[in-house]
Amino acid sequence: MNCKTAVILAAGAGTRMKSAKPKVLHSIMGRTMVSHVISQVRKSGSEKIIVVVGHGAHQVREALSEEGVSFAVQNEQLGTGHAVLQALDMIPEEGGVFIVCGDTPLITAETLEKFSDYHEKSGALLTVLTAQYDDPSGYGRIIRDQNGGLLRIVEQKDATDSEKSVREVNAGMYCVSAQFLRESLPRLTNDNAQHEYYITDLVAMAAEKDGASAYCAEDVDEVMGVNNRVQLAAAAKIMRKRVNERLMMDGVTIIDPDSTYIDDTVVIGNDTEIGPNTIIKGNTRIGINVTIGEGCQIEDSVIEDDVDIIKSVVKESHIGSRTHVGPFAYLRPGNEIGEECKIGDFVEFKNSVFGSGSKASHLAYIGDADVGNDCNVGCGVIFANYDGKNKHRTIVGDRVFIGSNSNLVAPVTVHDDAFIAAGTTVTKEVTEGALSIGRVVDRMEEGWVDKKNLRREKLHSSHKNDR
Ligand code: UD1
Ligand code: CA
Repeated sequence: MNCKTAVILAAGAGTRMKSAKPKVLHSIMGRTMVSHVISQVRKSGSEKIIVVVGHGAHQVREALSEEGVSFAVQNEQLGTGHAVLQALDMIPEEGGVFIVCGDTPLITAETLEKFSDYHEKSGALLTVLTAQYDDPSGYGRIIRDQNGGLLRIVEQKDATDSEKSVREVNAGMYCVSAQFLRESLPRLTNDNAQHEYYITDLVAMAAEKDGASAYCAEDVDEVMGVNNRVQLAAAAKIMRKRVNERLMMDGVTIIDPDSTYIDDTVVIGNDTEIGPNTIIKGNTRIGINVTIGEGCQIEDSVIEDDVDIIKSVVKESHIGSRTHVGPFAYLRPGNEIGEECKIGDFVEFKNSVFGSGSKASHLAYIGDADVGNDCNVGCGVIFANYDGKNKHRTIVGDRVFIGSNSNLVAPVTVHDDAFIAAGTTVTKEVTEGALSIGRVVDRMEEGWVDKKNLRREKLHSSHKNDR
């Protein structure tokens, strides 16, 4: 049986982060630290999750408003024991309770389950999660008697030199019986270096009753506490590695995992290849056999099978199968790109539909447009969607040819099979199969340059070497 109730401590200021934002709201791979903890605690079987808030309480509550948790308030941050005390009224009379810190984002549900099973079997009043660290500095140390029996936890600031040399540390996570919590929490004192009510002192109280046990985590990374931004980056690195390894085991090729940043929420099909220096975030789904070349940033998008994207940014867009994107394309939010399209270099899309088989191979802006199938958008084409005050849409039918350097001034409609000559500024509706041409007619005046004395100075002997 698992701990059905969990208390997550998230009221501390996190002074060592040197931030206006409460520590537990700092993010790792797109998700706050406390939210990572909540999701694993829930996955391990806790049904009632109480988050203790205090410093920046409003911000923390708001950030967690969708998480389905309850809140207890600790108005003054008088220590971790005092924090749990604020949640006591909300804890059921009986059963096991998890106490977990909001700043240990790498903990997994599997470890929490093993931990609570161990607690259950040991019959202890309290079990503490511990880990063996080569460098234990910053953590509370686990003090045992000669026979290895658990005695107490000493905080680094209160520890003697010999206690500091202990390498078994307190992970800051506990399984406690609700009854023991109820009788012992009010007995905590703040007689220590930091004048705080330490939750860690419960260990000595349980030990006195022969009711303290310890469970040592197999993976030390999981219990890492984040107190400053160096540790935040270290934790993010570990989490990234976990995500990348899971994806690779599932059949995704990641050329350089060290430079690939994929959120845990991203789904990727097998035989897809991810190039170096790529960031894939949020609610993104990528199909099978896709190539995401180097230097891409993809956010909240759906990329269908066999797509190929290189050095491009794609946000909140849907890209149909076998479409090619990049290099240097920018898909701003809201695009529905069809199948077998081509979106080439320096093409920007926003809030547009681009039908299957359509191409925009270079240097174009397509904003607020509905473009049909099999169209060709030439080089330098601009969909002028903004009149300085409002945005308007452009509608383009199927098989339309839009010549280079044309402007389509919205709102305007171009019907199927129309042809827009290069350099035309389209302001009127173009009917089916029509040619739209609007250019200043070419004129040539012989000898005009010399007449105006505008002949340019000769600097080089030939243009042969121009590239
Ligand atoms: C704590 C433990 C330490 C352990 C380490 C593991 C205590 C006294 N020490 O130290 O033994 O090795 O975690 O990471 O418990 N918090 C509150 N209210 C408070 C104080 C803190 O809610 O009044 C919250 C913080 O927001 C944080 C958590 O409790 O999420 C831990 O607090 P922190 O100050 O980081 O404790 P550590 O010094 O890391
Ligand atoms: Ca901490």
